[in-house]
Amino acid sequence: MKTPKRLQPLQEEGLIDEVMRQLMSGKEATVYVVRCGEEIRCAKVYKEASQRSFKNAASYQEGRKVKNSRQARAMEKGTRYGRKMQEEVWQNAEVDALYRLAAAGVKVPRPYICHEGVLLMDLVTDADGNAAPRLNDVELTPELARQYHAQLLHQVVLMLCAGVIHGDLSEFNILVDEEGPVIIDLPQAIDAASNTEAGVMLERDVNNLATYFGQFAPELNGTKFGKEIWKLFTAGLLTPETVLTGIVAQDTRPVDLGAVMEEIESAIFEEKERQRRLLEM
Ligand SMILES: Nc1ncnc2c1ncn2[C@@H]1O[C@H](COP(=O)(O)OP(=O)(O)OP(=O)(O)O)[C@@H](O)[C@H]1O
Ligand SMILES: [Mg+2]
Repeated sequence: MKTPKRLQPLQEEGLIDEVMRQLMSGKEATVYVVRCGEEIRCAKVYKEASQRSFKNAASYQEGRKVKNSRQARAMEKGTRYGRKMQEEVWQNAEVDALYRLAAAGVKVPRPYICHEGVLLMDLVTDADGNAAPRLNDVELTPELARQYHAQLLHQVVLMLCAGVIHGDLSEFNILVDEEGPVIIDLPQAIDAASNTEAGVMLERDVNNLATYFGQFAPELNGTKFGKEIWKLFTAGLLTPETVLTGIVAQDTRPVDLGAVMEEIESAIFEEKERQRRLLEM
């Protein structure tokens, strides 16, 4: 096909030789099948910030690092330079996460480069070499559902051991190749160590899996793998070899209300201080 405008810079740089077809147009990106020499790959073209939806929300951005404090200040203030930086951080987040995860042994499409808002990566394929279907489009037996669920839990644990939480894990962001599930779509990936909502996000990701596979294997409904994984992780006990049960003992200790109130008050104080400093700037 005729090379779409957004892919022209990559063709000029020799990163791709030919655009074969459009694969999908999602909420956040348009995905193309491209040829690079002999190889068939996948090019994900990110939409402009104004056309994107929830994934850009503040809770996902928290804990993301930029190169220097000048950039951080510009991003906070929302200057034109700041917005450009924000956009770059956003676009590079997925390629960074993919490199990190591939190195940690997580099954993700192999990334090559992110250039001019386009991520170049391996095309995930089925047994016939066609673009792999989404989990949502695959027929499952109870056995297969159990097998995929277990494989995905293992992937989530590997990811967390590498410090990454997907943040938008669902049957729409998982492809199925010959060997099983492959996790994709990571621009909103969360830093497990520095994001205060990390535990909530992890639990939500894992619960999404239980709910989806629970339709085919009902015993998965009501399992507490997310809570269990997070508890082990925060205790420093989670490893890729950890055997999970899906059961978490209820915490029956009385709540320390005084300590909770202190936490809240100190958070309010910190926020007031932050506002005051902003006004002074
Ligand atoms: N590496 C890949 N190999 C094969 N197909 C892919 C690959 N990456 C993306 N796709 C296809 O493109 C679709 C959209 O990709 P992705 O989920 O990353 O983008 P998105 O814009 O966030 O989509 P959505 O808003 O629908 O979640 C996927 O559902 C999948 O069908
Ligand atoms: Mg997606």
